Amino acid sequence: MAEKLKIGIIGSGTIGAAYAALFTGNGYPAALYDINEEILNAGIAKYEGLYNDIESRGLCSKAQRDKAKALLKGTLSLSDMDGFDIIFECIPEDLEMKRKLYARIEEEIGDVKAIVSTSSALSPDDLIFGMQKFRSRLVIGHPFNPPHLVPFVELVRSKETEEDVVGSVKSFLESCGRKVGVMKTPAPGFIANRLQHALLREATYLVDAGLVSCPEDVDKALTYSFLPRYTKVGLFEHHDFFGMDNTQRVQNTLCPSLCTRQEASEMVSELAEKGDLGMKTGKGIYEWDDEKIADFKKRAAEPYWGFFNWKFDADA
Ligand SMILES: NC(=O)c1ccc[n+]([C@@H]2O[C@H](COP(=O)([O-])OP(=O)(O)OC[C@H]3O[C@@H](n4cnc5c(N)ncnc54)[C@H](O)[C@@H]3O)[C@@H](O)[C@H]2O)c1
Repeated sequence: MAEKLKIGIIGSGTIGAAYAALFTGNGYPAALYDINEEILNAGIAKYEGLYNDIESRGLCSKAQRDKAKALLKGTLSLSDMDGFDIIFECIPEDLEMKRKLYARIEEEIGDVKAIVSTSSALSPDDLIFGMQKFRSRLVIGHPFNPPHLVPFVELVRSKETEEDVVGSVKSFLESCGRKVGVMKTPAPGFIANRLQHALLREATYLVDAGLVSCPEDVDKALTYSFLPRYTKVGLFEHHDFFGMDNTQRVQNTLCPSLCTRQEASEMVSELAEKGDLGMKTGKGIYEWDDEKIADFKKRAAEPYWGFFNWKFDADA
């Protein structure tokens, strides 16, 4: 059974509710805060909805679910998190809003060992501006949606984040089955989105430059060639298998012809300007109706259920 660190979660939206499910499902008592009772109740309803899915897939029993739920405490008072080990800040991606919240945390909470911001893209050095007593205890822990299923979390330290803070947040997340990467120096996109957008830049270039007959061919190449491998082995692991001599030869041949464009691709910009924004307008790179959207959502979530590995209370 996991050591009973006390965990606070501020914001009970998409990320906060899913983190509450993940942490309580791994045996940790968690306090979930939001700005008013109605929003907090909606967050707790989201938590229940996530457990409905988990239970209906046979991944937890009713007793395990009930034990997890008993570890969750909803609160409208930040001071309930005084003395907690880790507080996860899961409020909207707005720098000023986050800074104001940190000021309130410093005012209303006497002590906390670590504050993790779930920010997708803000710099931790900007987040700590104006902070005082907890400024060296803040680290970004960027999850991927839905965070109770997608294992990777990237920790991004500020110039001042204490080593111990990074270490204890990493150990805690790993004890919940997360796979944690640490970024020593912040850079836009952190680790995973830099990788994702490097790939997207080349994919859109293949279309823009007329090197492929249609976008479907790019999607097929990804889904049915090398991507499945990388759910089991790493990119660098694979290239060790391929050999540095071979990798060097291919990089020297290929790199000069890869896209180096410094702005959004022609295809993306044209569609955006026409208002063909994708699923939300029914047309983007592809055409979308309700059936196709439902099928997409099912296929997109499926691989991540394969990672499900929660350590429910063994006695439940
Ligand atoms: N949703 C995603 O796909 C995703 C993925 C990774 C990271 N993130 C990041 O996680 C953070 C939260 O995103 P989300 O999608 O869960 O947002 P959300 O809008 O779903 O939820 C935010 C919650 O915070 C609450 N809140 C607002 N102001 C608050 C305040 N001052 N104090 C306390 N609570 C407050 C809101 O009432 C709401 O319940 C953002 O920084 C976002 O960039 C989101």
